[in-house]
Amino acid sequence: MIEILNADELARARRTGRLVADILHTAKARAKVGTNLLEIDAWTRQMIEAAGAESCYVDYAPSFGRGPFGHYICTSVNDAVLHGLPHDHALADGDLVTLDLAVKLDGIAADSAISFIVGDTQPADSLALIGATRDALAAGIAAAGPRARLGDISHAVGTVLHGAGYSINGDFGGHGIGSTMHQDPHVPNDGRRGRGYRLKPGLLLAIEPWVMADTDELLIDDDGWTLRSATGCRTAHSEHTVAITEDGVEILTLPST
Ligand code: MF3
Ligand code: CO
Repeated sequence: MIEILNADELARARRTGRLVADILHTAKARAKVGTNLLEIDAWTRQMIEAAGAESCYVDYAPSFGRGPFGHYICTSVNDAVLHGLPHDHALADGDLVTLDLAVKLDGIAADSAISFIVGDTQPADSLALIGATRDALAAGIAAAGPRARLGDISHAVGTVLHGAGYSINGDFGGHGIGSTMHQDPHVPNDGRRGRGYRLKPGLLLAIEPWVMADTDELLIDDDGWTLRSATGCRTAHSEHTVAITEDGVEILTLPST
């Protein structure tokens, strides 16, 4: 089922979106060389609870993981790209970190992910990887609107990722979001312009391009969750929750400052 939010629900979605972004950006600012992934998880838990919000992850037990997730944020480092299960691991200089967070506040969920590098070493190929997912996300958002179709977003995302020289794994993509984190429609990271569901005002979408530097093949860790590149290459992921409005598209997961 595809959920269409009313004005009151959209107002609540804006608050959830801002909270998700603020938590992610606070965690990014605090993450340094030596920070343990379990500390990032603990900060996230504190910020979610202080805001009176609810984790979408801790009890989450989907078919693609060994549920429940049991943690509050996904922490994926270097070759890990999706669903990184926080574990006892300290960040090193030059590590590429992806934080992915979804929470629910007042009955409405929002979902966002950022990739960044910790420390002074900023490898150019890692920056390029992150840049490609950010550019693809921006292109996907620019292609969205009340008259666009789902395929317009997928095509825009896929064009940027392919254009940057990356291949795309079609197993995981974006999704509708609203009263729950994962809803229809699925938003593939590649597709055909002019095809698919026609977007409507009040629809919330999580658009989430992700790439691996030299492969489109994933491996799953023994933890039953963390997905890594099959070759050990670095990876990146950028995600926003957006709302389709009467006259365009609004990004909900932007920080308040
Ligand atoms: N937020 C992720 C997504 O972008 C889903 C993470 S599920 C978890 O869709 F259980 F791994 F946390
Ligand atoms: Co998502």
